[in-house]
Amino acid sequence: MNQYSLADAMTDKGNFTVPKLSESNMGFGVLGVFLGLLLEVSTHGPHAVPRTSWRHQDLDLMEFSEPGIYNYSTLLLSEKQDALYVGAREAIFELSKKNVTVRNNKVLWRVADNSMTMCTQKGKSKERDCLNYIRVLQVVNDERLYVCGTHAFQPLCDYLNLADFSLDSRHEDGRGKCSFDPSQSFTTVMVDGALYSGTAYNFLGSEPIISRYSPSQSLLRTEYSTSWLNEPSFVFADVIREGNNGDSGEDDKIYYFFTEVSVEYEFFGKLLIPRVARVCKGDLGGQRTLQKKWTTFLKAKLVCSMPELNFVFNVVHDVFILKADDRKDTVIYAVFTSQWGNVGLSAVCAYSIEAVEEVFANGKYMQKVTVEQSHTKWVRYNGVPPTPRAGACINNALRQQNINTSLQMPDKPLQFVKDHPLLEDPVLPIGNGPRLITKDVNYTQIVVERVRALDGNIYDVIFTGTDKGVLHKSVLFEGDVHMVEEIQLLKNSEPIKNLLLSSETRSLYAGSDSGVVQSPTSFCGKYSTCFDCILARDPYCAWDRRTSTCLSILDTPNQNPRNLIQSLNGDADVCPSVSGRFLKDYQRVTVKPGSSAELPCLVQSNLAQVLWKSNGSLLTEASRFHFMAETGLLIYSVAPEDQGYYECWSVEWAPGAKKNFSRLLGGYVLALDLPPAPTHQAGDVATTLSKQEMPSFHDVEDEGNGKTDRAPLTSALAPPSFTATDLFTSPPQTDSSLTSSSGSTAKLQPKQQPHPPNTIVPLRDGGDPSAEYLQHNNSIALLFLFLLFFLLFLAALVYNCYMQYLPAPCLRVRAALLGTHKSASQPEYRACEAGLMEPPAADKINLTEQPTQNGSQTTQNLRALRDTGYETEPDCSNGRVPTHGFGDDSPSQEKPFDVDCDSQSIQFADAD
Ligand SMILES: *[C@@H]1O[C@H](CO)[C@@H](O)[C@H](O)[C@H]1NC(C)=O
Ligand SMILES: *[C@@H]1O[C@H](CO)[C@@H](O)[C@H](O)[C@H]1NC(C)=O
Ligand SMILES: *[C@@H]1O[C@H](CO)[C@@H](O)[C@H](O)[C@H]1NC(C)=O
Ligand SMILES: *[C@@H]1O[C@H](CO)[C@@H](O)[C@H](O)[C@H]1NC(C)=O
Repeated sequence: MNQYSLADAMTDKGNFTVPKLSESNMGFGVLGVFLGLLLEVSTHGPHAVPRTSWRHQDLDLMEFSEPGIYNYSTLLLSEKQDALYVGAREAIFELSKKNVTVRNNKVLWRVADNSMTMCTQKGKSKERDCLNYIRVLQVVNDERLYVCGTHAFQPLCDYLNLADFSLDSRHEDGRGKCSFDPSQSFTTVMVDGALYSGTAYNFLGSEPIISRYSPSQSLLRTEYSTSWLNEPSFVFADVIREGNNGDSGEDDKIYYFFTEVSVEYEFFGKLLIPRVARVCKGDLGGQRTLQKKWTTFLKAKLVCSMPELNFVFNVVHDVFILKADDRKDTVIYAVFTSQWGNVGLSAVCAYSIEAVEEVFANGKYMQKVTVEQSHTKWVRYNGVPPTPRAGACINNALRQQNINTSLQMPDKPLQFVKDHPLLEDPVLPIGNGPRLITKDVNYTQIVVERVRALDGNIYDVIFTGTDKGVLHKSVLFEGDVHMVEEIQLLKNSEPIKNLLLSSETRSLYAGSDSGVVQSPTSFCGKYSTCFDCILARDPYCAWDRRTSTCLSILDTPNQNPRNLIQSLNGDADVCPSVSGRFLKDYQRVTVKPGSSAELPCLVQSNLAQVLWKSNGSLLTEASRFHFMAETGLLIYSVAPEDQGYYECWSVEWAPGAKKNFSRLLGGYVLALDLPPAPTHQAGDVATTLSKQEMPSFHDVEDEGNGKTDRAPLTSALAPPSFTATDLFTSPPQTDSSLTSSSGSTAKLQPKQQPHPPNTIVPLRDGGDPSAEYLQHNNSIALLFLFLLFFLLFLAALVYNCYMQYLPAPCLRVRAALLGTHKSASQPEYRACEAGLMEPPAADKINLTEQPTQNGSQTTQNLRALRDTGYETEPDCSNGRVPTHGFGDDSPSQEKPFDVDCDSQSIQFADAD
């Protein structure tokens, strides 16, 4: 392999060997790949566009917040009671889950003065860090919750009595259960009375830990080693129970999801990798090896990529496990972005539980090997792994061998899993690619609900929350994803920090820094026509032909299904046919000659194309006609020949039905207000027009349809209740500013010209700050991207040149610039550079316990160069081959320099 391609390496499944990269090529290779693929993906990549956009002010959402209280980021739904528990900064609330504006209880938990003083003395801010952020809320039993807070960087836990909503004031140590730092990523789950957390174990947040705490057992935790966890950002943890299908006697498993710095790929800086890790519920740690540590900790790479575009989503932000009655139907949904945030793409990938279990049960292990004395690489372990399988949960097969708990596991597999926690086989997504890709958003949260539609089929509805307070709702159809709507959940543009779904209340609950919002899972009632109700393709919604309303099938389970119309492929032909619209309903617009006229036309769907017709024939954009993408038609300097009759049509392609559906949205009669005989003249035009036959609508119908004009025409027209006047007096409640499907926002200034009395809607301000889906000027973005990468490229060139990776011409330039003298520290610097390239290399090469004067100085230099955040670990060697022999009990032959620093870690790490 001549050029190292990140995408190749990350998606390459079989045939794994670490690419032999020639160092001089690396800079060019990687940059080249990225330059190419970023441009390609951001212009041509597939992405979903929400059909409908709802603004916050158009929806009547229930909201909760209290003055002076912030960071409502921990949510817990009670299954038994009508309660949503909310952990905020210094406060815990009990809200009604039917209506979050109803507060049933509240308790404050503040930081005592002495803790506050200690925290500020350590350099943390009094207003932000040294407060108590409630981050753990878990159910212990019907009477109590377990609660933990960051408590001024000294995490504490307590019990909350639900009867009187008071804290026990037990002040249990919260270290390992809750993060110290309120802004650090963190996850927790309570399983059978034990608290499983993924967090940091120390003040600096540099010692990651996956732990289990239960009142009856001692803390079980991960080894402190970069092979186990390497600067992870935890996003989610949950249990998957075995259930009682099968007699293998398998244990329940707790899965953790996080992004960490890769050890297995070489890259410029830190290459992030999304991971799934798993531990077994019954794990008790080892007897000698791995005492009080997980004996079942294994992790694997999660793949979410677009192989056809060589594009990799490598940062996981949130996970939702859609549990099914049959465990095998369980699906894990995860939202990803790419480490290179400027691409602006988010993706949802789905993993079947069977694929995950298969990797953990049978996947190949990876191992660290040392090459060229100081360099370590991770490669596939090709030897024969010990039996029982390292990291396996206790099951009936093991019990037959008299291994009933992990304490009875032989040493060999324990030692093996300690050194080989990483599996080589990746977990591949269902369909080998993302289920959903969206442009220009950063998803932060995901929940999924399975809905049974009227056709009897089950659909997965995905709700994704963004960092701008917007919620996207998408439906997975076979081989196709449709984004039903986009909802501006939060008033302000801020991240959705937590998202929960309750099928019972049919609500979503979103927590943010400023409050809690409750939203229904569907907005069927907002679709005023059958056409919209069907084209929305929302499995929750159906059109009721008796009442002519769009309603939620979940709200009215007793409805006679014969009265309901649902067509999830968007075939609006199923709608009842309606009579046509009459010219007398057309709105009259009279303007003075030479002034401009604006004919409003609001389109609810972002997927629809707007067509204007004049006197029955299609209008094309001319100097006098300007189409405003979302709001209507602007005619400059109206001349006598412009008089006549104008129609606004929406044409929407329904991919499921493979048809275009067109519909008349508005009609106008434009007349000139001529001074000599104004009323007469205008009246003339109107009369002439009304005497005309209805102009043919045929032109709008698509040719590829192959149908006669009739059927689409009827469906294209509004239902009886829907008249032109209705349309204009009550414009659709959406604002298409949230999403623009095409073209640019109008830049015209109609204020320069007086508005004719009949033009109603002023031009909307295009710069709505809440706009989530702003249209980007692609070419500028691309140019910017290109420049950015060109700069990066130059930087890489200079760096590589400086590091002497590049061939002779560069070296000559370098020599000329730097002179030929070599600094005394050159060898050390070079030795450390390996560490720069490959973080895990650093902890392989270890210092002897008493470094020489010279050595420790170098270490300090190197520390400055490269801050791993692992303050307890020596960062780099002084260039000498380290020696064995400070009581490492397992020097293995194939890894001559593999000296673990695990044993020394804890005491140092805790010294904070
Ligand atoms: C808490 O909320 C405040 C106010 O919105 C915000 O500035 C801060 O970043 C939040 N802190 C954390 C840790 O989320
Ligand atoms: C997504 O997040 C990244 C990093 O925080 C930021 O640079 C980027 O502007 C965000 N993109 C969007 C569309 O919000
Ligand atoms: C529409 O028809 C009227 C009457 O035939 C004609 O005067 C007018 O110029 C036409 N307008 C356009 C825009 O074609
Ligand atoms: C559907 O309508 C769009 C917009 O008018 C048009 O571009 C497309 O070709 C039509 N498709 C078919 C199959 O008629």
